[in-house]
Amino acid sequence: MATLISVASGKGGAGKSVVSANLALALAKSGRQVILADLDVGGADAHIMFGELNPAVTLTDFLNKRIIRLDDAAIPLTVHPNLRLIAGTGDTLATANMAYSRKKRLMKQFHELEAGIVVIDIGAGTSFHALDFF
Ligand SMILES: Nc1ncnc2c1ncn2[C@@H]1O[C@H](COP(=O)(O)OP(=O)(O)O)[C@@H](O)[C@H]1O
Ligand SMILES: [Mg+2]
Repeated sequence: MATLISVASGKGGAGKSVVSANLALALAKSGRQVILADLDVGGADAHIMFGELNPAVTLTDFLNKRIIRLDDAAIPLTVHPNLRLIAGTGDTLATANMAYSRKKRLMKQFHELEAGIVVIDIGAGTSFHALDFF
């Protein structure tokens, strides 16, 4: 099972996404297989940081069961061969307000990701989504 690293803070604009993106890239460069998972549902931006303005696959595809394995939602990033991204964008309103059953299915699949390390960018605040993901 991958080591999961959650990056969170009570406030927005604290630097979570910058830290997550740089940490994920640094770990990839050190030789680990890394997935950056953008769970800032409703405010996902990791894809933009890596220049993937319209990712082919997003978290929405997993939540809507267009793909079954969360690992298949992790797209390769051109910046480094060891780094993949689960892009949090897609149908943002639906994702931000996902039902509990979908959230449970999502969290369960984190244990089956094919990576050494998963860095998780969690949205700001104390919503149930942020707390549950953490
Ligand atoms: N270490 C830093 N030094 C200067 N600016 C930073 C640093 N970390 C983040 N920022 C800037 O602060 C803003 C918020 O960062 P971001 O990572 O998006 O925060 P969060 O994900 O916590 O909302 C961005 O404009 C980002 O470029
Ligand atoms: Mg952020």
